[in-house]
Amino acid sequence: MTIHGSVWLATTTMPEYDVLRSDLDADVVVVGGGLIGLTTAFYLQEQGADVVVLEGARIGARTSGNTTGKVTSQHGAMYAGLFDRHGADTARQYADANQSAVEEVAEVVQRLGIDCELTRTPAYLYSTGTADLRREAEVAAALGLPAHSVDSQELGLPLAATEVVRFDDQLQLHPGRYLAGLAEAFTRAGGRIFDNSRVVELDAGDDRIRAETSSGPAVRAAHAILATLLPIGLTGGYFARTRPHQSHGIALHLPVQAPAGMTISADEPVRSTRPWPGGGPNGLIVVGGDHETGDRTDTSSAFQSLIDWVGSLWNFRAQPEYRWSAQDYSTPDQLPYVGKAPGSPILVATGMHKWGLSNGTVAAGILRDAVLGKDNTWSGLYDAGRIGDATAVANLVKDNLKVGKEFAAGHLRRLLGPGLDHIEIGEGGLFDTDDGTIGAYRDRDGNLHTVVPVCSHLGCPLRWNQGDATWDCNCHGSRFAPNGAVLDGPATTPLKSPTPD
Ligand SMILES: Cc1cc2nc3c(=O)[nH]c(=O)nc-3n(C[C@H](O)[C@H](O)[C@H](O)COP(=O)(O)OP(=O)(O)OC[C@H]3O[C@@H](n4cnc5c(N)ncnc54)[C@H](O)[C@@H]3O)c2cc1C
Ligand code: FES
Repeated sequence: MTIHGSVWLATTTMPEYDVLRSDLDADVVVVGGGLIGLTTAFYLQEQGADVVVLEGARIGARTSGNTTGKVTSQHGAMYAGLFDRHGADTARQYADANQSAVEEVAEVVQRLGIDCELTRTPAYLYSTGTADLRREAEVAAALGLPAHSVDSQELGLPLAATEVVRFDDQLQLHPGRYLAGLAEAFTRAGGRIFDNSRVVELDAGDDRIRAETSSGPAVRAAHAILATLLPIGLTGGYFARTRPHQSHGIALHLPVQAPAGMTISADEPVRSTRPWPGGGPNGLIVVGGDHETGDRTDTSSAFQSLIDWVGSLWNFRAQPEYRWSAQDYSTPDQLPYVGKAPGSPILVATGMHKWGLSNGTVAAGILRDAVLGKDNTWSGLYDAGRIGDATAVANLVKDNLKVGKEFAAGHLRRLLGPGLDHIEIGEGGLFDTDDGTIGAYRDRDGNLHTVVPVCSHLGCPLRWNQGDATWDCNCHGSRFAPNGAVLDGPATTPLKSPTPD
């Protein structure tokens, strides 16, 4: 039987924390207990600041606990494009920043003694088509990265690669245990974490920022950092300057020993693999199936395509032990936004482009230095106030027009299901009732959960995602549980119930 959930979270004893029950004062309030929030909080607490982390669910439970666990400067076929588009300086800074993050994560793991299956391993980028990876290798090497074109036999995948690039001495780790280790180090140093304390409002006063949680209590601090994957609400307008993309992962056993290195394809559809140490010598993790959040009603086919890919490569009937999904945001120029949001004292970090274990570690250093009033080598590269180049902005405007079209086209009507009475256990969808269109899901115990299928961020219609049993918003990536609870923001409040209490 396949377990629906991240292999990492299932094999981590994540520390649990109380809900915030009364008002507090601190030097810094960090909203979000994922990789960026916890790393930043730990860095600041280590420097003597009094830091409080407010997490809307459980720490590590969202994207950071659902990654592939590669900590690498090898970000797919990235560097030739970065060089051509932004020039040598920007490409070199990005390379330096991410390669430094690889070493920084290794140093943190060693210094804190975190038991997170950290191993050094090569990261391979390959093509089975016509992608020009020789140039990618040359550009990356010229930028100072440990990149080489190598023989296709080295890859270790049973497929006909036309070109292969190897990045030496990269890292893979167990992200759940890394996050647990960071949280424990942070609280040992005096930091405070509150789980299930979703921030619904940030008020910037004259000298303090007040972060109010959904049940009322608030933290007042001199600095506020939004490490919520995408800044919540309307902060900085980042919802209109980024796009959310979901990917899917499986952990399974091969009939043979798994390839020792990490691999990623340069061609579409992207397939990313790495060994699964917890699964023994034959254990493999495969991640892929990228698509925009909320653009389809059933993500099961994305899992099936990963299963079929593995089955056809190794010629067996693949059966995953775990399957999971998560999302991340990309910016138009593929560089993250980190630092002060325009026109606001609030610090943000978003747009990690699915490489947030390294980019997010860089972000944590930038955020720490911003709070401490220190210079940071990479703050200009990741400047949260930039608007991107002209093409990028034009593309974004198109995306946002699409949002408008969703409203206008009566999108809900096209997706209506057959009727509430017919809804089976484990099924969900949109249904026409006498009171209008509602969203409904019948859980394993037969209970029916109903919601008004309209996003609580800016009112876009929601799509039922049968693969993950979630309500997903294609506008800016908010996701909701069947009962309407927020899973991923920018939304901060649950979906409305169709029947008022
Ligand atoms: C499938 C997949 C595989 C990936 N693999 C890799 C990889 O191998 N290597 C790599 O470098 N990167 C990878 N990434 C990208 C990386 O995982 C992310 O960039 C990174 O985890 C983002 O960290 P974060 O802290 O910003 O987000 P999150 O981990 O999502 O943390 C944000 C936290 O904020 C909380 N939150 C949200 N709103 C509120 C609120 N209002 N109040 C309080 N809390 C709130 C959430 O509950 C969450 O815990 C992958 C991404 C995906 C989707
Ligand atoms: S996430 Fe913005 S409207 Fe849904």
